[in-house]
Amino acid sequence: MPRAQITALGHYLPDYVLTNQELEQLVDTSDAWIRERTGVCERRILTGERGSSYMGVRAVQELLAKKGLDASEIELLICCTVTPDMVFPATANIITDELGASRAWGFDLGAACSGFLYGVCVASQFIETGRYSKIVVVGVDKMSSIIDYQDRNTCIIFGDGAGAVLLEPDTANTGYGIQDFVLYSDGSGMKHLHMKSGGSRRPPSLDTVRNREHYVYQEGQAVFKRAVVGMAEAAAEIMERNGLTGADVHWLVPHQANLRIIDATAQRMGLTPDKVMVNIDRYGNTTSGTLPLCLSDWEDRLRPGDRIVLASFGGGFTWGAVYLTWAYGK
Ligand code: UT7
Repeated sequence: MPRAQITALGHYLPDYVLTNQELEQLVDTSDAWIRERTGVCERRILTGERGSSYMGVRAVQELLAKKGLDASEIELLICCTVTPDMVFPATANIITDELGASRAWGFDLGAACSGFLYGVCVASQFIETGRYSKIVVVGVDKMSSIIDYQDRNTCIIFGDGAGAVLLEPDTANTGYGIQDFVLYSDGSGMKHLHMKSGGSRRPPSLDTVRNREHYVYQEGQAVFKRAVVGMAEAAAEIMERNGLTGADVHWLVPHQANLRIIDATAQRMGLTPDKVMVNIDRYGNTTSGTLPLCLSDWEDRLRPGDRIVLASFGGGFTWGAVYLTWAYGK
Protein backbone atom coordinates (compact mmCIF):
# COMPACT_ATOMS: atom_id res chain seq x y z
CA MET A 1 0.00 0.00 0.00
CA PRO A 2 1.70 3.28 -1.05
CA ARG A 3 1.89 5.91 1.66
CA ALA A 4 0.41 9.37 0.87
CA GLN A 5 2.87 12.26 1.11
CA ILE A 6 2.50 16.02 1.00
CA THR A 7 4.83 16.99 -1.85
CA ALA A 8 4.05 20.67 -2.46
CA LEU A 9 2.43 23.68 -0.78
CA GLY A 10 0.86 26.95 -1.86
CA HIS A 11 -1.07 29.71 -0.19
CA TYR A 12 -2.88 32.98 -0.79
CA LEU A 13 -3.57 35.85 1.58
CA PRO A 14 -5.54 38.96 0.62
CA ASP A 15 -3.74 42.31 0.83
CA TYR A 16 -6.14 44.12 3.14
CA VAL A 17 -4.92 44.03 6.75
CA LEU A 18 -7.62 44.50 9.39
CA THR A 19 -5.84 45.56 12.57
CA ASN A 20 -7.02 45.44 16.16
CA GLN A 21 -6.90 49.24 16.12
CA GLU A 22 -9.40 49.33 13.24
CA LEU A 23 -11.68 46.92 15.14
CA GLU A 24 -11.55 49.29 18.11
CA GLN A 25 -13.42 51.75 15.87
CA LEU A 26 -16.14 49.19 15.04
CA VAL A 27 -16.92 47.50 18.38
CA ASP A 28 -16.31 48.01 22.10
CA THR A 29 -12.94 46.26 22.39
CA SER A 30 -9.26 47.00 22.78
CA ASP A 31 -6.03 45.89 21.16
CA ALA A 32 -4.77 44.77 24.58
CA TRP A 33 -7.85 42.59 25.27
CA ILE A 34 -7.72 40.91 21.84
CA ARG A 35 -3.99 40.17 22.10
CA GLU A 36 -4.22 38.87 25.65
CA ARG A 37 -7.36 36.72 25.25
CA THR A 38 -6.76 35.41 21.70
CA GLY A 39 -3.22 36.19 20.46
CA VAL A 40 -4.54 37.92 17.32
CA CYS A 41 -2.94 41.23 16.25
CA GLU A 42 -4.25 41.49 12.70
CA ARG A 43 -6.06 39.45 10.05
CA ARG A 44 -6.50 39.60 6.27
CA ILE A 45 -9.77 40.48 4.52
CA LEU A 46 -10.74 39.71 0.92
CA THR A 47 -12.53 42.77 -0.41
CA GLY A 48 -14.87 43.14 -3.38
CA GLU A 49 -17.21 40.64 -4.98
CA ARG A 50 -14.78 37.74 -4.78
CA GLY A 51 -15.42 34.43 -3.09
CA SER A 52 -13.35 31.65 -1.56
CA SER A 53 -12.57 30.29 -5.04
CA TYR A 54 -10.55 33.44 -5.76
CA MET A 55 -8.15 32.60 -2.95
CA GLY A 56 -8.24 28.85 -3.59
CA VAL A 57 -7.28 29.25 -7.25
CA ARG A 58 -4.29 31.41 -6.33
CA ALA A 59 -3.10 29.03 -3.61
CA VAL A 60 -3.19 26.10 -6.06
CA GLN A 61 -1.52 28.14 -8.82
CA GLU A 62 1.38 28.87 -6.46
CA LEU A 63 1.65 25.17 -5.60
CA LEU A 64 1.64 24.14 -9.27
CA ALA A 65 4.26 26.74 -10.21
CA LYS A 66 6.58 25.68 -7.37
CA LYS A 67 6.22 22.01 -8.32
CA GLY A 68 6.40 22.63 -12.08
CA LEU A 69 3.10 20.87 -12.67
CA ASP A 70 0.32 21.62 -15.13
CA ALA A 71 -3.23 21.92 -13.79
CA SER A 72 -4.31 19.15 -16.16
CA GLU A 73 -2.28 16.67 -14.08
CA ILE A 74 -4.56 17.07 -11.03
CA GLU A 75 -6.92 14.09 -10.71
CA LEU A 76 -9.00 15.12 -7.69
CA LEU A 77 -9.42 18.46 -5.91
CA ILE A 78 -11.04 18.62 -2.49
CA CYS A 79 -12.04 22.10 -1.36
CA CYS A 80 -12.45 22.32 2.41
CA THR A 81 -14.57 25.35 3.27
CA VAL A 82 -17.60 26.64 5.16
CA THR A 83 -17.77 29.73 2.96
CA PRO A 84 -18.36 28.35 -0.55
CA ASP A 85 -18.80 30.89 -3.35
CA MET A 86 -22.45 29.78 -3.54
CA VAL A 87 -24.64 26.93 -2.26
CA PHE A 88 -23.98 25.10 -5.52
CA PRO A 89 -22.07 24.30 -7.63
CA ALA A 90 -19.26 23.20 -5.33
CA THR A 91 -16.41 25.68 -5.00
CA ALA A 92 -14.11 22.78 -5.96
CA ASN A 93 -15.75 22.82 -9.40
CA ILE A 94 -15.27 26.57 -9.75
CA ILE A 95 -11.61 26.23 -8.77
CA THR A 96 -10.88 23.33 -11.15
CA ASP A 97 -12.54 25.21 -14.00
CA GLU A 98 -10.56 28.41 -13.39
CA LEU A 99 -7.33 26.43 -13.06
CA GLY A 100 -7.94 24.54 -16.28
CA ALA A 101 -7.74 21.27 -14.34
CA SER A 102 -9.56 19.50 -17.15
CA ARG A 103 -9.09 15.92 -15.85
CA ALA A 104 -9.99 16.58 -12.24
CA TRP A 105 -13.20 15.87 -10.40
CA GLY A 106 -13.81 17.47 -7.05
CA PHE A 107 -16.10 18.21 -4.19
CA ASP A 108 -16.44 20.49 -1.18
CA LEU A 109 -15.87 19.19 2.31
CA GLY A 110 -17.49 21.09 5.16
CA ALA A 111 -16.10 20.34 8.60
CA ALA A 112 -15.48 23.92 9.77
CA CYS A 113 -12.11 24.32 11.47
CA SER A 114 -11.30 20.62 10.98
CA GLY A 115 -12.10 20.76 7.25
CA PHE A 116 -8.50 20.62 6.07
CA LEU A 117 -7.60 17.86 8.54
CA TYR A 118 -10.56 15.75 7.35
CA GLY A 119 -9.70 16.57 3.71
CA VAL A 120 -6.11 15.37 3.99
CA CYS A 121 -7.30 12.10 5.55
CA VAL A 122 -9.91 11.53 2.80
CA ALA A 123 -7.34 12.28 0.08
CA SER A 124 -4.78 9.95 1.67
CA GLN A 125 -7.22 7.04 1.28
CA PHE A 126 -7.49 7.58 -2.49
CA ILE A 127 -3.69 7.57 -2.70
CA GLU A 128 -3.24 4.50 -0.49
CA THR A 129 -5.70 2.45 -2.55
CA GLY A 130 -3.59 3.28 -5.59
CA ARG A 131 -6.53 4.88 -7.37
CA TYR A 132 -5.03 8.38 -7.74
CA SER A 133 -1.54 9.84 -7.64
CA LYS A 134 -2.13 13.61 -7.72
CA ILE A 135 -4.70 15.06 -5.34
CA VAL A 136 -4.94 18.70 -4.29
CA VAL A 137 -6.53 19.58 -0.95
CA VAL A 138 -7.43 23.25 -0.56
CA GLY A 139 -8.29 24.76 2.83
CA VAL A 140 -9.95 28.13 2.28
CA ASP A 141 -12.38 30.42 4.02
CA LYS A 142 -13.62 33.94 3.48
CA MET A 143 -14.80 34.25 7.07
CA SER A 144 -15.40 37.99 6.63
CA SER A 145 -18.44 37.05 4.49
CA ILE A 146 -20.19 35.46 7.51
CA ILE A 147 -18.88 37.63 10.35
CA ASP A 148 -20.96 40.31 12.02
CA TYR A 149 -18.68 43.32 12.48
CA GLN A 150 -21.05 44.50 15.22
CA ASP A 151 -20.40 41.36 17.31
CA ARG A 152 -17.23 41.70 19.38
CA ASN A 153 -17.36 38.03 20.39
CA THR A 154 -16.57 36.85 16.88
CA CYS A 155 -15.28 39.69 14.69
CA ILE A 156 -12.00 39.92 16.59
CA ILE A 157 -10.99 36.33 15.89
CA PHE A 158 -11.62 35.48 12.26
CA GLY A 159 -9.85 36.30 8.99
CA ASP A 160 -9.63 35.22 5.34
CA GLY A 161 -7.01 33.06 3.63
CA ALA A 162 -6.22 29.88 1.70
CA GLY A 163 -3.64 27.14 1.67
CA ALA A 164 -3.24 24.12 -0.60
CA VAL A 165 -1.29 20.87 -0.52
CA LEU A 166 -0.49 18.28 -3.17
CA LEU A 167 -0.69 14.63 -2.09
CA GLU A 168 1.21 11.98 -4.02
CA PRO A 169 2.20 8.35 -3.34
CA ASP A 170 5.59 7.54 -1.83
CA THR A 171 6.93 5.98 -5.03
CA ALA A 172 10.54 6.10 -3.78
CA ASN A 173 9.60 4.02 -0.71
CA THR A 174 11.08 6.50 1.76
CA GLY A 175 8.40 5.65 4.31
CA TYR A 176 7.69 9.36 4.74
CA GLY A 177 4.12 10.64 4.59
CA ILE A 178 0.88 10.28 6.48
CA GLN A 179 1.38 7.71 9.22
CA ASP A 180 -1.84 7.83 11.21
CA PHE A 181 -4.93 9.87 12.04
CA VAL A 182 -7.74 10.12 14.59
CA LEU A 183 -10.94 11.96 13.64
CA TYR A 184 -14.00 12.79 15.72
CA SER A 185 -17.29 14.66 15.54
CA ASP A 186 -20.13 15.44 17.93
CA GLY A 187 -23.21 17.06 16.42
CA SER A 188 -24.53 18.09 19.82
CA GLY A 189 -21.97 20.89 19.64
CA MET A 190 -24.13 22.66 17.05
CA LYS A 191 -25.93 24.73 19.67
CA HIS A 192 -22.70 26.47 20.64
CA LEU A 193 -21.36 27.29 17.18
CA HIS A 194 -23.42 27.65 14.02
CA MET A 195 -25.00 29.99 11.47
CA LYS A 196 -28.71 30.31 12.22
CA SER A 197 -30.05 30.95 8.73
CA GLY A 198 -29.30 30.63 5.05
CA GLY A 199 -29.59 26.85 4.86
CA SER A 200 -32.61 24.70 3.99
CA ARG A 201 -33.99 24.79 7.54
CA ARG A 202 -34.27 28.58 7.63
CA PRO A 203 -33.76 29.97 4.14
CA PRO A 204 -32.95 33.68 3.76
CA SER A 205 -35.87 36.03 4.34
CA LEU A 206 -36.35 39.65 5.33
CA ASP A 207 -36.66 38.49 8.94
CA THR A 208 -33.45 36.46 8.93
CA VAL A 209 -31.56 39.42 7.49
CA ARG A 210 -33.13 41.91 9.92
CA ASN A 211 -32.29 39.60 12.84
CA ARG A 212 -28.65 39.30 11.68
CA GLU A 213 -28.92 35.51 11.41
CA HIS A 214 -26.54 35.08 8.48
CA TYR A 215 -23.46 35.37 10.64
CA VAL A 216 -21.37 33.06 12.82
CA TYR A 217 -23.05 32.52 16.18
CA GLN A 218 -20.56 31.38 18.82
CA GLU A 219 -20.82 30.86 22.56
CA GLY A 220 -17.13 31.50 23.08
CA GLN A 221 -16.62 30.05 26.54
CA ALA A 222 -18.54 26.82 25.85
CA VAL A 223 -16.54 26.24 22.65
CA PHE A 224 -13.30 27.16 24.40
CA LYS A 225 -13.84 24.56 27.14
CA ARG A 226 -14.45 21.75 24.63
CA ALA A 227 -11.70 22.90 22.23
CA VAL A 228 -9.00 23.08 24.85
CA VAL A 229 -9.69 19.47 25.90
CA GLY A 230 -10.54 18.07 22.44
CA MET A 231 -7.47 19.31 20.60
CA ALA A 232 -5.06 18.34 23.38
CA GLU A 233 -6.65 14.88 23.81
CA ALA A 234 -6.53 14.13 20.06
CA ALA A 235 -2.89 15.21 19.85
CA ALA A 236 -1.97 13.14 22.92
CA GLU A 237 -3.86 10.12 21.53
CA ILE A 238 -2.02 10.15 18.20
CA MET A 239 1.31 10.41 20.04
CA GLU A 240 0.48 7.46 22.31
CA ARG A 241 -0.71 5.31 19.40
CA ASN A 242 2.60 5.88 17.65
CA GLY A 243 4.87 5.67 20.67
CA LEU A 244 5.94 9.31 20.45
CA THR A 245 7.09 11.55 23.28
CA GLY A 246 7.39 15.32 23.13
CA ALA A 247 11.09 14.94 22.36
CA ASP A 248 10.27 12.88 19.22
CA VAL A 249 7.92 15.47 17.68
CA HIS A 250 9.58 18.16 15.56
CA TRP A 251 6.50 20.30 14.92
CA LEU A 252 2.95 20.81 16.15
CA VAL A 253 0.69 22.36 13.50
CA PRO A 254 -2.32 23.46 15.53
CA HIS A 255 -5.57 25.03 14.39
CA GLN A 256 -5.26 28.75 15.05
CA ALA A 257 -8.42 29.53 17.04
CA ASN A 258 -6.95 30.95 20.22
CA LEU A 259 -3.35 31.11 21.43
CA ARG A 260 -4.43 29.79 24.84
CA ILE A 261 -5.84 26.61 23.21
CA ILE A 262 -2.61 26.17 21.23
CA ASP A 263 -0.48 26.60 24.37
CA ALA A 264 -2.55 24.04 26.30
CA THR A 265 -2.17 21.49 23.47
CA ALA A 266 1.59 22.01 23.28
CA GLN A 267 1.87 21.65 27.05
CA ARG A 268 -0.12 18.39 27.03
CA MET A 269 2.20 17.06 24.30
CA GLY A 270 5.31 18.06 26.26
CA LEU A 271 6.51 20.41 23.52
CA THR A 272 8.64 23.50 23.91
CA PRO A 273 7.19 26.65 22.26
CA ASP A 274 9.87 26.63 19.51
CA LYS A 275 8.26 23.47 18.07
CA VAL A 276 4.81 25.02 17.69
CA MET A 277 3.72 26.75 14.50
CA VAL A 278 1.85 29.95 15.40
CA ASN A 279 0.67 32.60 12.95
CA ILE A 280 -2.63 33.54 14.64
CA ASP A 281 -1.04 36.92 15.43
CA ARG A 282 -0.91 37.75 11.69
CA TYR A 283 -3.91 35.95 10.18
CA GLY A 284 -6.37 35.23 13.01
CA ASN A 285 -8.59 32.17 12.59
CA THR A 286 -9.04 31.41 8.89
CA THR A 287 -11.07 28.23 9.70
CA SER A 288 -10.16 25.70 6.96
CA GLY A 289 -7.10 27.76 6.03
CA THR A 290 -5.13 27.64 9.29
CA LEU A 291 -3.24 24.34 8.96
CA PRO A 292 -2.01 24.70 5.34
CA LEU A 293 -1.16 28.37 5.99
CA CYS A 294 1.07 27.27 8.88
CA LEU A 295 2.75 24.57 6.78
CA SER A 296 3.28 27.09 4.00
CA ASP A 297 4.80 29.67 6.35
CA TRP A 298 7.18 27.07 7.80
CA GLU A 299 7.93 25.21 4.52
CA ASP A 300 11.56 26.38 4.29
CA ARG A 301 12.30 25.04 7.77
CA LEU A 302 10.85 21.56 7.23
CA ARG A 303 13.25 18.67 6.59
CA PRO A 304 12.64 15.14 5.25
CA GLY A 305 11.68 12.85 8.11
CA ASP A 306 10.49 15.63 10.46
CA ARG A 307 7.78 14.18 12.69
CA ILE A 308 4.75 16.48 12.54
CA VAL A 309 1.42 16.43 14.38
CA LEU A 310 -1.51 18.37 12.94
CA ALA A 311 -4.40 19.01 15.36
CA SER A 312 -7.69 20.86 15.13
CA PHE A 313 -11.00 21.54 16.87
CA GLY A 314 -13.97 23.43 15.49
CA GLY A 315 -17.62 23.80 14.59
CA GLY A 316 -19.71 20.67 14.50
CA PHE A 317 -18.05 19.87 16.81
CA THR A 318 -15.28 18.34 14.69
CA TRP A 319 -11.77 17.52 15.87
CA GLY A 320 -8.82 15.22 15.41
CA ALA A 321 -5.11 14.86 14.75
CA VAL A 322 -2.83 13.60 11.98
CA TYR A 323 0.69 12.25 12.43
CA LEU A 324 2.93 12.55 9.37
CA THR A 325 6.59 12.59 8.50
CA TRP A 326 7.70 15.33 6.13
CA ALA A 327 8.70 14.14 2.68
CA TYR A 328 10.79 16.87 1.06
CA GLY A 329 13.20 19.75 1.67
CA LYS A 330 16.92 20.11 2.13
O1 UT7 B 1 -12.23 27.91 15.57
C1 UT7 B 1 -13.51 27.53 15.93
C2 UT7 B 1 -13.57 27.16 17.35
N1 UT7 B 1 -13.58 28.35 18.15
C3 UT7 B 1 -12.81 28.46 19.20
O2 UT7 B 1 -12.04 27.57 19.53
C4 UT7 B 1 -12.98 29.71 20.00
C5 UT7 B 1 -13.03 29.39 21.46
N2 UT7 B 1 -13.34 30.56 22.30
C6 UT7 B 1 -12.48 31.58 22.47
O3 UT7 B 1 -11.45 31.66 21.85
C7 UT7 B 1 -12.81 32.59 23.54
O4 UT7 B 1 -13.91 32.12 24.30
C8 UT7 B 1 -13.15 34.01 23.00
C9 UT7 B 1 -11.90 34.66 22.44
C10 UT7 B 1 -14.23 33.95 21.96
C11 UT7 B 1 -13.64 34.89 24.16
O5 UT7 B 1 -12.63 34.93 25.17
P1 UT7 B 1 -13.01 34.59 26.69
O6 UT7 B 1 -11.78 34.73 27.47
O7 UT7 B 1 -13.71 33.25 26.72
O8 UT7 B 1 -13.97 35.75 27.04
P2 UT7 B 1 -15.46 35.67 27.67
O9 UT7 B 1 -16.45 35.39 26.59
O10 UT7 B 1 -15.45 34.78 28.86
O11 UT7 B 1 -15.64 37.13 28.17
C12 UT7 B 1 -14.84 37.68 29.25
C13 UT7 B 1 -15.14 39.15 29.38
C14 UT7 B 1 -16.63 39.47 29.41
O12 UT7 B 1 -16.83 40.59 30.25
P3 UT7 B 1 -17.33 40.43 31.76
O13 UT7 B 1 -18.62 39.69 31.67
O14 UT7 B 1 -16.24 39.63 32.44
O15 UT7 B 1 -17.43 41.83 32.24
C15 UT7 B 1 -16.95 39.83 27.99
O16 UT7 B 1 -18.07 40.66 27.89
O17 UT7 B 1 -14.62 39.85 28.24
C16 UT7 B 1 -15.68 40.56 27.59
N3 UT7 B 1 -15.44 40.53 26.15
C17 UT7 B 1 -14.69 41.43 25.53
N4 UT7 B 1 -14.05 42.53 25.97
C18 UT7 B 1 -13.36 43.24 25.06
C19 UT7 B 1 -15.85 39.60 25.27
N5 UT7 B 1 -15.38 39.90 24.04
C20 UT7 B 1 -14.66 41.03 24.18
C21 UT7 B 1 -13.94 41.84 23.29
N6 UT7 B 1 -13.30 42.92 23.76
N7 UT7 B 1 -13.83 41.55 21.97
